[in-house]
This record gives sequence, structure tokens and C-alpha cells, in this order.
Amino acid sequence: MNRLEQLKQAAQYIREQISGDLPDTGIILGSGLGTYADSLENPVEIPYRDIPGFVTSTAPNHKGVLFAGRKGGHSLLVMSGRFHYYEGYSMKDVIFPVQVMALLGIRRLIITNASGAINPDFRPGHLMLIRDHVNMSGMNPLIGPNLDELGDRFPDMSDVYNRDLRKKVLREAQADGIELYEGVYAMMSGPSFETPAEIRFLHTIGCDAVGMSSVPEAIAAKHAGLEIIAISALANAAAGISPVPLSGSDVLEASAQIADSFRTVVDIAVNV
Ligand code: HPA
Repeated sequence: MNRLEQLKQAAQYIREQISGDLPDTGIILGSGLGTYADSLENPVEIPYRDIPGFVTSTAPNHKGVLFAGRKGGHSLLVMSGRFHYYEGYSMKDVIFPVQVMALLGIRRLIITNASGAINPDFRPGHLMLIRDHVNMSGMNPLIGPNLDELGDRFPDMSDVYNRDLRKKVLREAQADGIELYEGVYAMMSGPSFETPAEIRFLHTIGCDAVGMSSVPEAIAAKHAGLEIIAISALANAAAGISPVPLSGSDVLEASAQIADSFRTVVDIAVNV
């Protein structure tokens, strides 16, 4: 079976589970942010292991379940758990769910993650809307035969995180009293955290936050013509800025503490 057939098979399987109510929006929940799925109305739970072509997520606290449900007049597909390049998966595995959701007809993808704050003015414990990214993973998920059915061979990346949507999200978050920064996200492959020298380099080239995900999904989503809004939970100050060594469990704990404002900003992103 070729890639397109695999994607279509997964889309067909999901369509059968959600009986008719086709999703308009996809959401990828990042580290420590999984509780958003609890707020769906009458969710259908589809374990990744049952979906043909999905790999399973091994990252801590990444549940490995696709939730389909309604919220505020929208029909959502919510990924609780994503696949990371650092887990040893190929970039093709990492973007498989995004391409399946595109085939299912979603128009908008909301991508979330936890990151380390590089910009000294950005305080950990707050959220950052991603304005643009720098792909430092060393890979591009679209390498290989192009899926013409989804998008162009050389997709434009000059407005991945749509400017008008960002403006609206920022305005509404502010009206709700949420301090939402806006900045550039760098993806490093991980799984080791960065060195202080790498963080100084990322700062120099204009990055405000660093993490180990999201960029492959954003590239695949842009290729497929989706609207993209990406929200990063600044879980810690990046290496060399943080007074303490970084740890994965601290990241999970810190992003879980932002859960309330996170849920509000995701709701805003669904509805703008
Ligand atoms: N670096 C990379 N990924 C991260 C970080 C970080 O400091 N914090 C949360 N995810």
C-alpha cells in the first residue's frame, strides 16, 4: 500500500468511529496539556493502537488517544499525545496524523507544546503564541515523493501561523486577562535538552522559545492548506538561563500548572 492509501485507510477507520459528524478542527495536545480533552461533549475515544498506520506515543504523559467530540459548535479531533522525532519515529510517522486529519476535512489545526523560554522578557508559567518557527531538527517531513492530492511540492512557508488569526487570538486573550506572548519557536530534535551555548545561538538568530516538536506538524499542515494556530506553554527558562538543571518531570509539572489559561486560549483558537 502506498502512503496515500495508508492515509486514506486511517481516515476511513476514524470516519467509521465518529459516525457522520465530520471534524472541522484538529488539536494536538503537548506535554502536560492533555486534560483539554476532558472538556469535550460526548467524546468518542479512539486509541492510536487501533488506527491503521498510527504508531504509539511513548513520551511520558502522552496518552495515545484520539478524541472526537463537540465543543462550542465545533466538531473537534483532539490528539492526546503526539509522536516526536526523538522517540525514534520517522518524520513521516510524526506527520501521519496531521495528513489523516487533513484528508478527513479539517480546516484548522491547533498545535500545542511545552517549551523553554529563551527571550529574557518571557516569563515561564505563561503562554506564547507562535509567530514563526526555525526548523533546527535537521530534517524536513516532506522529503520524499510529494502527495499531490494534499499539496504542492514546494509549499510556501511565509505565513504558516496566519497573521490575521494571531491578531484575533491575541486580542481575545488580552480581553480575558491572559498574558499571551508572541514569538518565534525553534525546534531542536532532543531528547537531550540544549546546552547554554546552543541557547545563546538560538537567541542570536531570533528565537524566543525552544522545544522538541510541532514544527513537522506545522509544515505538514501548511502543505495541506490548513489554517494553523500554535500555542506554546513556557514551562521553564531555557538552559543557561534557568538557575536549576532541566528535567522532563519539571516540564510536565510546570505545563500542567498553566492548564486553565491554556484551555481558555485553545478555546479562543477554536472559535476565532
Ligand atoms: N528545551 C527543549 N524542549 C523543551 C524545553 C526546553 O527547555 N522545555 C520544554 N520542552
